[in-house]
Amino acid sequence: NRIQVIHGVNLDQLGRRDPEHYGTLTFDELEYAIEGFATELDLQVTFFQTNHEGALVEHLHQLEGIADAIVINPGAWTHYAWAIRDALELTGLPAVEVHLSDVDAREDFRKVSVIRDICVATVKGLGPDGYREALSRCKTILEDAS
Ligand code: DQA
Repeated sequence: NRIQVIHGVNLDQLGRRDPEHYGTLTFDELEYAIEGFATELDLQVTFFQTNHEGALVEHLHQLEGIADAIVINPGAWTHYAWAIRDALELTGLPAVEVHLSDVDAREDFRKVSVIRDICVATVKGLGPDGYREALSRCKTILEDAS
């Protein structure tokens, strides 16, 4: 099964962001760790990161048929980017929402997620291990569907 792992705005700056919320892993190290989780779970992963909302929207437009499921951490877009929600929905693919930090235990604006109700699961507050959990959820969902 092919899982597309999507990182939104500012996630490429991991390693420079507040380690209290995001840990000390750099973005490259995070993607390397995710590769490892995927290998353990016998999943194929591909990655996409952008800081441009329109680029993510257009990327989502052409994802059907390229991936079987999506793992997405939209960064701050999570909290207000309705266009990303609409584009994610039209992929028709099962998606798992991931956040490194526990977004529900921080500022109020982070408690809102515009994608949560269209995602099959949300994983938050587990740091990089959250991606293992998210991939494992994808695997279960795809196995149940086949
Ligand atoms: C984040 C949480 C968001 O609120 C924040 O804007 C991010 C990262 C997380 O992974 O914890 O950029 O999605």
